[in-house]
Amino acid sequence: MANVFTELKTPITGTYKQPTGLFINNEFVEGVDKKTFEVINPSTEEVICSVHEATEKDVDIAVAAARKAFEGPWREVTPQKRGQLMYKLAELCEQNLDILAAVESLDNGKSITLARGDVGAVVGCLKYYAGWADKIEGTTTDVAPDMFHYIKKEPIGVCGQIIPWNFPLLMLAWKIGPALCTGNTVVLKTAEQTPLSALVLAQYVKEAGFPPGVLNIISGFGKVAGAAISAHMDVDKVAFTGSTIVGRAIMKAAASSNLKKVTLELGGKSPNIVFNDADIEQAISWVNFGIYYNHGQCCCAGTRIYVQDGIYDKFVAAFKKRAEANKVGDPFHHETFQGPQVSQLQFDRIMGYIQAGKEEGATIETGGDRHGDKGYFIQPTIFSNVRSDMKIMQEEIFGPVCAIAKFSTEEEVIKLGNDTTYGLAAAVHTKDLNTAIRVSNALKAGTVWVNCYNMIHHQMPFGGYKASGIGRELGKEVLNNYLETKSVSVRLGGALFG
Ligand code: NAI
Ligand code: MG
Repeated sequence: MANVFTELKTPITGTYKQPTGLFINNEFVEGVDKKTFEVINPSTEEVICSVHEATEKDVDIAVAAARKAFEGPWREVTPQKRGQLMYKLAELCEQNLDILAAVESLDNGKSITLARGDVGAVVGCLKYYAGWADKIEGTTTDVAPDMFHYIKKEPIGVCGQIIPWNFPLLMLAWKIGPALCTGNTVVLKTAEQTPLSALVLAQYVKEAGFPPGVLNIISGFGKVAGAAISAHMDVDKVAFTGSTIVGRAIMKAAASSNLKKVTLELGGKSPNIVFNDADIEQAISWVNFGIYYNHGQCCCAGTRIYVQDGIYDKFVAAFKKRAEANKVGDPFHHETFQGPQVSQLQFDRIMGYIQAGKEEGATIETGGDRHGDKGYFIQPTIFSNVRSDMKIMQEEIFGPVCAIAKFSTEEEVIKLGNDTTYGLAAAVHTKDLNTAIRVSNALKAGTVWVNCYNMIHHQMPFGGYKASGIGRELGKEVLNNYLETKSVSVRLGGALFG
């Protein structure tokens, strides 16, 4: 019997059985090459366990399983039954919320409170898409009296899905929800930094009663398994969330292989704009949440904070106090807001940006250093006196670091807000409804929050303008990314053409 489980322990749930194999055809298996890689706890920098690594050969096997399921048993399942299976999976996640959240905290480092919130959102998302399964409809159109025309929606086929490490379970739910409810099958690759929680969830896929091969979940590296998925000749669609640079590589791989459909959810450098007339206490709370939530590891993080000149000094002083009050530390402590960054590499990248900010002459209002001496913890950091052309104002930092700048007029801040290659999200804080709507209209971003931040919900489409991506996730809108359109024209007899 292959060694595809191990006993692990989390500080709050005690011991549990952690699957370590590749989940293919509803079974955990070793990879063909029998490779494994280590999983790190970012709070302690210690090895948690090793998991099996998928190589190209395993991707081939997983894709073949997904193809067989797509052409066979999954086609036989009615939309109603598809929805029931998905709802059952959601319920199993709900029943196992404690362990899923604990494993997420252990592997990713996010605070247990946030991890529990993530699992709640996973359940909500899966239930929402379960509800869509039997509501996919086509149309008919009258073209000519001796013809019958209908337009039908069909699943695309085998979907490759490549997800990042910042929301390991939630990104999985955002991806599999729309893919499965529309009748596709899936090969999903988790991020190499955080494979554990998805493998725990994989157990419930079988338990829920999905036919083998419908949902395959593999652990592995981007350059090996990720690249194999994006270049695969029998994958019909690839959906990706992660860095812009990898998004480009995936698009190229799709273009030079079988022209599989591509959707991308990439980075951001989102502006968070505070006008003189904003409720300042509220605005500070949302600005704080906008940047430091999930340790700044959010594609939509509000990293560029623009504050109007009338309240600038007061705002900076109060925001500094607020950031310093964020509790950084052990993710399993119930009061912790900010745990460690996910990996040594991310820690080093962020510290590199802090160094660049210092060298380019920005002022550190607070933070700027590591927190503690073990684990990848970084102090909540605020830079002021930041110019638009500085690296910290242009590039995605993906850590607890923000840049704050002053503006005078609405016209000026719209220009500043749009002065980026990205366009994922933005926020406006003001009590004036006219200002709120005018500025929201003028910002080139897929999501705008007014007097709040990070209010993401699965009923609302999410995705980017410009280099922040292609297509939208969530809402009804994502469904089209998982459906082909078939136009059928039926001749009802009558005279022969010509
Ligand atoms: P990444 O883009 O390399 O990783 C995301 C996923 O893509 C992982 O599953 C990875 O294995 C896979 N991948 C990597 N190279 C691939 C390739 N050539 N072909 C196919 N799949 C591939 O992101 P990374 O290196 O972990 O983080 C770097 C930066 O990316 C972060 O600092 C942040 O700026 C950004 N990022 C953005 C995210 C978002 O939510 N939009 C999530 C994670 C990272
Ligand atoms: Mg880890």
